[in-house]
Amino acid sequence: MTWATTVSALARAAWAGIDPDGFFHHHAADTEPFPVRFPGLGTVLFFATGDAARDILTAPTTLCRAPLPNPIEPVVGEHSLILLSGAAHRRARAIVAPAFRGEAVRGYLDLIAEVTAEQVAAVRPGGRLLVGRVAQAITLDVMIRVVFGVADRARHAQYARVTTELLHAGSGPLMLVPWLRREVGGRGPWARLVAVRTQLDRLLGAQIDERRASAQHHGDVMDRILNATDDDGGTLTDTALCDQLRTMLAAGHETSSTSLTWALYHIHRDDSIRMGVLGELATATTPGEFAALPYLNAVISETLRMHPPVPIVLRELTGPYTVDGHAYRGGDVVGIALPAMHFNPRLWPRPDVFDPSRFLDGKPTPFQYAPFGGGYRRCIGAGFAQHELAVVIGTIMTTLQMRLPAGERRRRSPRAVPRGIATIPSREIALQVLTRG
Ligand code: HEM
Repeated sequence: MTWATTVSALARAAWAGIDPDGFFHHHAADTEPFPVRFPGLGTVLFFATGDAARDILTAPTTLCRAPLPNPIEPVVGEHSLILLSGAAHRRARAIVAPAFRGEAVRGYLDLIAEVTAEQVAAVRPGGRLLVGRVAQAITLDVMIRVVFGVADRARHAQYARVTTELLHAGSGPLMLVPWLRREVGGRGPWARLVAVRTQLDRLLGAQIDERRASAQHHGDVMDRILNATDDDGGTLTDTALCDQLRTMLAAGHETSSTSLTWALYHIHRDDSIRMGVLGELATATTPGEFAALPYLNAVISETLRMHPPVPIVLRELTGPYTVDGHAYRGGDVVGIALPAMHFNPRLWPRPDVFDPSRFLDGKPTPFQYAPFGGGYRRCIGAGFAQHELAVVIGTIMTTLQMRLPAGERRRRSPRAVPRGIATIPSREIALQVLTRG
């Protein structure tokens, strides 16, 4: 590699890291793969085309694996679904995934609505709703109560502190520079991360022991995973179970929170969209009905098209495989750049316009729209997240009438900036609260 190409590769990597949407939108019309270098992982060949998405998402399990190293490993642990491949991945998925399917998810909706109502209970007319902050609080509470199954108030506060600290400790330089993952006399960021992860595992361990000792049925995610087995009747060890629960926290909290923030922003930025959502909400009363509303779901889908919180879907090839006409070898890493594919003008007319109606007139294929990835690694929380977003938005908007201040309406939309494994809006959105009903 020449000096000039090295500088160019570093500059591109920096652009992708600082302004992922700007970088990937720049490549939206590309018909050829474009390379990006990642620390530790090396060069990833990214695609923006539907044909490439089809090839990547339908690649046989025998020909691809999860690319390693993954910067999220210190938080999620080596048994995490995100890091496993092959038979171990299949077995772990068989145990975890059923807790996130249809009937199970519908059973969580009332609690999600209750959590939301509690989080906005103190908001009064004349005040402001800081959307990002409230979204963080609601989705963390959903994680603690619905996924980890924590009902006890005192314990809930401990979970809230420890999970927030863990996510904070596991982001930033430690994720990108493995060399920093060492203790200096029991101090430093790495020691802090290990300490807070151990604290969370102690809390989770106590919760698991209590559940195992009790005959009571709780119907939450924790219960379902504890009672699930793989095809051979196998279960997860306590260590593996803690890794999967931390994985759900890392994969499911910030992603849902940022999607909720963007959705509420777009809804309140455009009166016709807000009126459309409110009109539909007037026909529904229960959380289950909110989750089934077509226009509200179209708004959520359009939010995930414009702002996919996990912008890249990666596969490491383990043997020769062709992606969109390009031949690759084992060891090569290929990826779908979601902000590029979701803005590809050949797949989406007027891609920079927020237009929920594109999801009302028919479903896009998984090879033009893939906010949850796809194939055998598709996000296990996809249905959960879509329902959660609908119930939270429905509950907030039937409780509070809000308006986006004129000044914010006139401003350019916030950019997406990286945080943890997700991207979040570059500034806080404050909605004015008009009435409460
Ligand atoms: C709007 C919210 C969310 C988005 C946009 C999202 C997106 C994604 C994406 C793009 C992937 C990679 C899929 C692939 O490689 O094909 C993924 C994987 C995953 N997600 Fe989500 N996710 C969300 C919420 C959740 C929630 C709520 C949970 C669980 C509570 C969750 C758990 C996981 C897990 C465990 C994986 C790894 C699956 C595997 O490798 O087998 N996600 N997610």
